[in-house]
Amino acid sequence: MYKAADTLLLFGATGDLAKRMLLPSLCALHADGLLAEDLKIIGTARSEMDDAAFRNFAREALEQFLPAERRGGMAEFLNRLSYQSLDATTLDGFKALATKVGEPKTGLAIFLSTAPSLFEPTIKGLQHAGLDGENVRMCLEKPLGTDLATSCAINDAVASAFPEDRIFRIDHYLGKETVQNILALRFANVLFEPIWNSNYIDHVQVTVAETVGLEGRVAFYDDAGALRDMVQNHMLQLVAMLAMEPPTSFDATAIRDEKVKVLRALRKVSAAETVTGQYRSGAISGEAVRGYDDELGKDSGTETFTAIKAHVDNWRWKGVPFYLRTGKRLPERVTEILVQFRSVPHSIFDGAGAASMMQPNQLLIGIQPEENITLSLMAKVPGLDQDGTRLRSVPLDIAMPDAFVGAHRRIAYERLLLDLMKGDQTLFVRRDEVEAQWQWVDAIRSVWEAEGVTPKPYPAGTWGPNAAIALAERDGVSWHDE
Ligand code: BG6
Repeated sequence: MYKAADTLLLFGATGDLAKRMLLPSLCALHADGLLAEDLKIIGTARSEMDDAAFRNFAREALEQFLPAERRGGMAEFLNRLSYQSLDATTLDGFKALATKVGEPKTGLAIFLSTAPSLFEPTIKGLQHAGLDGENVRMCLEKPLGTDLATSCAINDAVASAFPEDRIFRIDHYLGKETVQNILALRFANVLFEPIWNSNYIDHVQVTVAETVGLEGRVAFYDDAGALRDMVQNHMLQLVAMLAMEPPTSFDATAIRDEKVKVLRALRKVSAAETVTGQYRSGAISGEAVRGYDDELGKDSGTETFTAIKAHVDNWRWKGVPFYLRTGKRLPERVTEILVQFRSVPHSIFDGAGAASMMQPNQLLIGIQPEENITLSLMAKVPGLDQDGTRLRSVPLDIAMPDAFVGAHRRIAYERLLLDLMKGDQTLFVRRDEVEAQWQWVDAIRSVWEAEGVTPKPYPAGTWGPNAAIALAERDGVSWHDE
């Protein structure tokens, strides 16, 4: 384990992620007294500005994106910040950057939140300026490539300067408390693990629905699409955490070893097991919104929605479909996992309609916006039952915010930045995981290409094209819609 870093160097410091997430997370950690007292934060980007101007920029970002009650000690926090402008495409400015960084006493954490095309020249620049020593660790923000080949190229470039145990690849879903809770739910309770397999589970649904559209990310999103933007990373990480074998400990190697086995066991998907869509004009919460092509200003073949029927080919999950769906401009923002259990093997209840009253158990894990875990159980409806027992499914509900009153709702990056500075890789994605994810996703894209799959239109504010409903209904499954 490395010593905690006392210097954080932030590439892309004037970008959107820094403004919305990184600076607010760091300030919130500072407010809670969780940053090392001597931690220095150096921002760098192409824009010319001095320390004072960067602090002003940061203050504005914090006022916009961090709730006032989490901004305690903001002035002191801003004093930690300094800035060095840099054109990362040439080596010229890196020596000056190194001078600004000085000699970190314990360690330097570098966060690359720039276009991936700058990763390689940045690594070269860092090497040129000696900012690649043993006490330096490197954190990479997505997108890490657009397919397996480009991802490998990035990984090779980074590996030429940093060993894997000093590379921290972000998937911000892993920083979400609610996502980490999947592991707690599965491995800190004796209840679920014995039935967490194809003998008792009929299928699993993972939904990541967003109401937002392009959000001005025109160039990036149109080159990516829902499959690469959401499935390749966040959704597959959720699947890996749901499907993995119990690791021996909560440790970076043990956890990632188990996750990668799941990712490698994902079965190749056929075109018929996928649906793609693209939103047209419609309404979200009563407000009219434009269609994707209209927002983009041109026609496009990029999918803003995808639904996939996936399988993990191993003993535990034999024959259990994992239905995944994600999309922009859906009716609500919700990330949730539904674990649908099988029916009881034999019902002892008879009487009027007893059989149709029997509903198999469900476990619903709400990830966002609210964290709720609901287990539906069958119970007897009160009454004298002269015509036979009456049954109804009732929810056993755990609302996490109520169970843990007073706990902060944290930004995912708070945990990830702390772990980066501490040197704990458990919640970061290992190279073999990223590559297994790309391999599966690339195969889907090849199938789409070979079979001429193009996205079907769906009105904004709906749950995607009807074909997505059909994908599940063919198997007698209904998506869990509110
Ligand atoms: C990002 C995607 O990785 O995740 C975005 O690029 C998406 O398109 C975002 O909106 C969703 O994150 P969250 O935390 O809001 O669910």
